Amino acid sequence: MTKKVLLLPGDGIGPEIMAQAVRVLDLLKKDGLKIETESALIGGCAVDATGKPLPEETLKLALTADAVLLASVGGPKYDTLPREQRPERGLLAIRKAMNVFANLRPAIVYEELSGASTLKPDVVANLDILIIRELVGDIYFGEPRGIEVRNGERVGFNTMIYSESEIRRIAHVAFQSARKRNKKVCSVDKMNVLESTQLWRDVVTEVGKEYPDVELSHMLVDNAAMQLIRNPKQFDVMVTGNIFGDILSDAASMLTGSIGMLPSASLDENGKGLYEPIHGSAPDIAGKNLANPLAQILSVAMMLRFSLGEEAMADRVEAAVKKVLAQGYRTGDIFTEGGKRVGTVEMGDAVIAAL
Ligand code: NAD
Ligand code: IPM
Ligand code: MN
Repeated sequence: MTKKVLLLPGDGIGPEIMAQAVRVLDLLKKDGLKIETESALIGGCAVDATGKPLPEETLKLALTADAVLLASVGGPKYDTLPREQRPERGLLAIRKAMNVFANLRPAIVYEELSGASTLKPDVVANLDILIIRELVGDIYFGEPRGIEVRNGERVGFNTMIYSESEIRRIAHVAFQSARKRNKKVCSVDKMNVLESTQLWRDVVTEVGKEYPDVELSHMLVDNAAMQLIRNPKQFDVMVTGNIFGDILSDAASMLTGSIGMLPSASLDENGKGLYEPIHGSAPDIAGKNLANPLAQILSVAMMLRFSLGEEAMADRVEAAVKKVLAQGYRTGDIFTEGGKRVGTVEMGDAVIAAL
């Protein structure tokens, strides 16, 4: 049956990297991939066109699609807008509406890129960790939130909150993912200070009893940030809340050489998903053919695997990415001595040739 894929290019480098992902999808369609694609607006471009970062039309299409492929939203042009109109609000709203609570962010060091990391090659060589970030709860969505005047001065406040059921479902995803890998889960929290993360630790521990074959450890988030840089290969699956996962995954991306290498899958309970690179709209390089499209292309691979039932095609896309790296093609962010420096489109050309 033909599946529906919604494309959301967004802002900044978004349309440039999405164009390369679409070339990959078009090629796979010729080889039998049965999908219909449609594009819609989200983020700043949607604000420009409709006044809203997530127009109803886009949301409707997203909720009826089998998978959504998103690039990136945001930019300095929108930084002074009222909060509810900010591009980022559109992204948060689509994640919440799709209920894609499980955000999988794999940090894999491709052999050819161990020299591209700012860390010593032996610290990162062959690294393969999976950060699982809870995506629709925590301080991102907690109420009350706001800025108001109290005792004659402004105060800003947010609420860090997790329910037992929210923690339980993400914990199951972590343990089940670990079963398919090296059977280790490290849960990251700040239980020494924050009650919401005390509950996090308690519930993850309870769920862990159902998975006696998986080794569970716990780590405080500040130590986890340090350990990721000190010795990242001690980790297999890391599971954590929304805000800690946001920060730790950007840090982990540098182990791989660049944030331009990290794809993600955000899944609901039924295998529907939203797929996006972990990076943003990179306003500093937008419109210059400088962006690395590989995180976006690797997000296509995750979409093929998790929502479109096309494991073999997913493998093929990942193999093509490995091949272009082995051939020496490098965008600026992953450039090292001896590489062939290319732009966004030329990297896309290389991937298409490798496919
Ligand atoms: P960013 O991820 O956009 O950029 C951080 C740095 O990484 C920049 O120097 C950028 O040039 C570089 N970079 C990012 N992606 C790259 C790629 N594919 N190839 C090469 N270099 C790349 O983060 P930021 O600068 O903090 O945020 C910019 C805007 O993006 C903000 O409006 C922010 O809210 C938004 N944002 C959106 C998303 C998303 O859409 N999922 C994620 C993060 C940030
Ligand atoms: C990410 C981004 C988003 C987040 C922003 C743009 C809302 O940083 O996808 O990592 O914080 O989740
Ligand atoms: Mn982020």
